[in-house]
Amino acid sequence: MASAGVVAAAVVVAAFAAFCATDPLRLGSMVDFPGFEAHVVELPDAAEMPPHADAGERLRGAEIRFRGEVQGPESVAFDPQGRGPYTGVADGRVLFWDGARWVYFAHASPNWTAELCGPKASPLDFLRDEHICGRALGIRFDKRTGNLYIADAYFGLFKVGPEGGLATPLATEAEGVRFNFTNDLDLDAEGNVYFTDSSIYYQRRNFMQLVFSGDPSGRLLKYNPQTKETTVLHRNLQFPNGVSLSKDGSFFVFCEGSRGRLSRYWLKGEKAGTVDLFAILPGFPDNVRTNEKGEFWVAIHCRRSAYARLTSRRVQLRKFLLSLPIPAKYHYLMQIGGNLHALIIKYSPDGEVLDILEDTKGQVVRAVSEVEEKDGKLWIGSVLMPFIAVFDYAKES
Ligand SMILES: *[C@@H]1O[C@H](CO)[C@@H](O)[C@H](O)[C@H]1NC(C)=O
Ligand SMILES: *[C@@H]1O[C@H](CO)[C@@H](O)[C@H](O)[C@H]1NC(C)=O
Repeated sequence: MASAGVVAAAVVVAAFAAFCATDPLRLGSMVDFPGFEAHVVELPDAAEMPPHADAGERLRGAEIRFRGEVQGPESVAFDPQGRGPYTGVADGRVLFWDGARWVYFAHASPNWTAELCGPKASPLDFLRDEHICGRALGIRFDKRTGNLYIADAYFGLFKVGPEGGLATPLATEAEGVRFNFTNDLDLDAEGNVYFTDSSIYYQRRNFMQLVFSGDPSGRLLKYNPQTKETTVLHRNLQFPNGVSLSKDGSFFVFCEGSRGRLSRYWLKGEKAGTVDLFAILPGFPDNVRTNEKGEFWVAIHCRRSAYARLTSRRVQLRKFLLSLPIPAKYHYLMQIGGNLHALIIKYSPDGEVLDILEDTKGQVVRAVSEVEEKDGKLWIGSVLMPFIAVFDYAKES
């Protein structure tokens, strides 16, 4: 009996190894980073997590729009006239919905060509040339000027006029260290831009390796349009991501992806220049956006699994598991408990949970990157999906 068990186990392991070798998602594994370090990730305790859940699974009520017309629309924005949406897609461009169809609006890479960057058989094929074609992850309009600001994952911080076209680089490095993963941004009333560089070592196409390693090289940055200088506001962050100013401009919040927190950077008052905890998040946050009431919508890729919590502080164990030739996809599925599922949480201007919308089985909305509220509707982008989901919040809540 014992030997039959051993044989069965060997067959399973061999089959798994063969399957892994095919790397169906082409996301590589940690083997691509031989000298990688694993770092402790101080996740919140399970007891600290917000107890809330959406028993009604209301996110399943979202309408799927533009299926197949937009690949991986991470960030969604409307211009000062309310037109749009505009969104950054997998081929490196920012597209504009003119009311009838998607048209080109802008791009950041000077080397963008339709031959190299244009349509691909599978959404994942775009990863191969992303570093040449670019990837606009965070987009925001300056409401006063109509200029669009772009955080391009590979090229840095950009600006383009209301007529669109090739964007102008504003910042590509700080303190002599190049950004390797520019992620999101917001602007204050004076036109200062607050933005994140998720890592100086890992690029966006290796975002999974960034998650697994717990790399703490992320930076929170400020670009001053008067002096054209970029300063580091906060450093040693683990996957800083979304950024959003408060309605009164006294602070902005930013997502700490690996640690699952929303942190607050004070701009005004006694605490100016300091960071404190705004909210504890149950999973991996991406972007955060403010609505007209000054509430914050946070897009969370997935809730974290017990495995993720177990390995967060055990770096030797994590390093060993990651050094096995298992594709990143499977490590990722372990971290999120087996299936892609989305949740979005609304916080008050003081960080209280106001609402949560979920699709725990990922039946309709499997992944979310950003929630933009406009006229009672939630426009939900996702870096992984070929559509934008629209949730009629005024009607359904
Ligand atoms: C564009 O291509 C040129 C020529 O190959 C290269 O030198 C340059 O670094 C590229 N620019 C960017 C921003 O990738
Ligand atoms: C940025 O990422 C690229 C690709 O992974 C890597 O070759 C480069 O060394 C990184 N930059 C730094 C400073 O490590």
